[in-house]
Amino acid sequence: MSDAPALRLSGRAKIGAAPIFGPLSLRAPAGEWTCLLGPSGVGKSTVLRLFAGLGDGIAFDGEAVAEDGVRLDGRVALMGQSDLLMPWLDATANVTLGARLRGTSPGRDRAREILGRVGLSEHADKRPHALSGGQRQRVALARTLMEDRPVVLLDEPFSALDARSRAQMQDLATELLAGRTVLHVTHDAAEAARLGQTILLMTRAGIASFPPPEASTPRLYDAPGTLAFQGRLLRLLMDTR
Ligand SMILES: Nc1ncnc2c1ncn2[C@@H]1O[C@H](COP(=O)(O)OP(=O)(O)OP(=O)(O)O)[C@@H](O)[C@H]1O
Ligand SMILES: [Mg+2]
Repeated sequence: MSDAPALRLSGRAKIGAAPIFGPLSLRAPAGEWTCLLGPSGVGKSTVLRLFAGLGDGIAFDGEAVAEDGVRLDGRVALMGQSDLLMPWLDATANVTLGARLRGTSPGRDRAREILGRVGLSEHADKRPHALSGGQRQRVALARTLMEDRPVVLLDEPFSALDARSRAQMQDLATELLAGRTVLHVTHDAAEAARLGQTILLMTRAGIASFPPPEASTPRLYDAPGTLAFQGRLLRLLMDTR
């Protein structure tokens, strides 16, 4: 996508009197896939919320912007850490919700196609209560892919999936989000080693960047270079609090 901008955040954040993070400086390159790792509670979801314009309640002293100088409003799709599906809507209606809220054509055929790609053709008419946790997460992924935005923020998008569907969804997301600016929060070193073109580790001390293997993404999960990098990342995470 030619209009996918680089993202930049710098500043410090508090909720009430409690410091969340900062001073912090983070950059996600334009049109690339960036993985953001770091211990629980360090502020990763807060970073995504700030880029998504959902920073109500966060006292943020700094900027979370697109480097092309154009506002991020309307250019971002966020897949949150919880699925946030509407319980009274079936899977298809959840996937088309964004368009219907905006009053544009819901694109049902495209929704069905994406639900098929996430392996849920047979579940398209079910409401969330009738789906498993991993199926709900795939509906939320489908909804995010449906949004077709140049900037995509993914907060632990594959955390509820078994190993096989996780690898399949990673492949699908890599394919469908190629050329977009993706900022992907994950706790999974193997996932970051497969998908990240930039790898950022967020700690209380700030952000550190670790160059991934040169192989193109999605990398083979069992290639020596992927495994070695995964091990290195895991060791870093073990040493981080
Ligand atoms: N609504 C809130 N009110 C008060 N504190 C909050 C609120 N939301 C988040 N926090 C605090 O902000 C900090 C950062 O939260 P955030 O959700 O960004 O962490 P995270 O890095 O995404 O963690 P995890 O890996 O567990 O998802 C945490 O210490 C959390 O307790
Ligand atoms: Mg989080």
